[in-house]
Amino acid sequence: MSRLIVVSNRVAMPSRGKPQAGGLAVAVNAALKHRSGIWFGWSGNVVDPPDSRPRLLTRGEITYAVTDLSTADLQEYYSGFANRVLWPILHYRVDLAEFTRSDLSGYIRVNETFANQISTILEPDDVIWVHDYHLMPLARYLRARGHTNKIGFFLHIPLPPPDILRALPHHAEIVGAMADYDVVGFQTENDRDNFARYLMVNGGTVSPDGNTYDVHGRSVSLGAFPVAIDTASYAKTARRASRSQFISTMKGSLGQSQLIMGVDRLDYSKGIGNRLDAFETFLEDNSDWLGRVSYLQITPKSRSDIPEYIEMDRMVSTRVGQINGTYGNVSWTPIRYINQTYSRTALAGLYRLARVALVTPLRDGMNLVAKEFVAAQDPEDPGALVLSHFAGAVSELRDGALVVNPHETEGMAAAIRRALEMPLEERKVRHARMMRALLANNIDCWAKSFLKALEDARPRATPVN
Ligand code: G6P
Repeated sequence: MSRLIVVSNRVAMPSRGKPQAGGLAVAVNAALKHRSGIWFGWSGNVVDPPDSRPRLLTRGEITYAVTDLSTADLQEYYSGFANRVLWPILHYRVDLAEFTRSDLSGYIRVNETFANQISTILEPDDVIWVHDYHLMPLARYLRARGHTNKIGFFLHIPLPPPDILRALPHHAEIVGAMADYDVVGFQTENDRDNFARYLMVNGGTVSPDGNTYDVHGRSVSLGAFPVAIDTASYAKTARRASRSQFISTMKGSLGQSQLIMGVDRLDYSKGIGNRLDAFETFLEDNSDWLGRVSYLQITPKSRSDIPEYIEMDRMVSTRVGQINGTYGNVSWTPIRYINQTYSRTALAGLYRLARVALVTPLRDGMNLVAKEFVAAQDPEDPGALVLSHFAGAVSELRDGALVVNPHETEGMAAAIRRALEMPLEERKVRHARMMRALLANNIDCWAKSFLKALEDARPRATPVN
């Protein structure tokens, strides 16, 4: 079998100890467990100037090939173009995008550098699988270096409609360049259809099967491949974790209170502010629940040098303080707000203990917290999931979750009450429906179906420049 080369901005090295937040690390790690290969990407270090060849480290079946970034790369490519331009625009927040030409140049420079570095380790029959918005035009630069390997791309975050994409200056060089992949995969049909429409308005034509698009002489297949989790293994981890000392201490601290949980990186796309408004309205309207509920919001900080994130940090801490100050008393704090990262095992145990999870992003590619929460439940006494209409996970979990519009405070507050008071029978039925959906698409199906689509893609005979 040919080697698989996974490429992503971050590489979750086993030696780094600290668990990574975000769905990408979970998904890629699991995919690489089943097929030997190389995981190439940024080491997480900033070095001036970085080496021109990647450092290699083999652990079991996986070889990690990592490169450093320079200070300018970090600022322009990662903090600048990827996180202050692409991230907001792809999450439908054109209003937050801060475009500069120097950040665009930095983004292109790092994509070219990645293409150069990958060229040093690439063999002709390697299959390349590129991940996420940091590396949208990478195939173009690999093709320009003469590589005709199969190259696929998977976008972990949403892709908005063409009109929003066209707000991105020089979008043809970034979004249009995705036509240089053989296969482009998205989390949902909606994201896939948005990209198909983008290609069509920019001169593409669709083949009779409806999945392949010809764009200026290149052929690209599109598909929806909702990212999944290892449901059975996660359930096992949760069962084991629920017997740990950590969870019994947590249980003790709850007393008779029901646990509500939210787990999100500190990011404006996650709707944490709207959720806090809803929780406050819930407390305001339901005095019978005062003192009987504890809302644990675990929120690791991320991208802390970007102004929008600094502002979020300030806003969320202030709101939590206001709500605790207004509704709490000497023996009860309504919200426990924590900025630490917890291990997969600790989170699994907490999910199993919780009666309700609030997964209410304003926009999210998939959101694996929703899936992990469901997998972690005790089927005989499961918790309820309150899920945003705007999380990719809703396409698989809508039959079992309480689906909410995160922009409607009272609707979310009502859903919190309904989730807390949901009868056991209803919780079991809803949980069973969601588990069926999770088991129908586990992490192996996700990776296998993407790689199968890549294998089936038409081979490229000649390099495209
Ligand atoms: C999301 C993105 C990932 C990213 C993660 C954490 O899940 O899809 O590509 O790695 O957030 O963000 P960070 O900027 O810390 O890598």
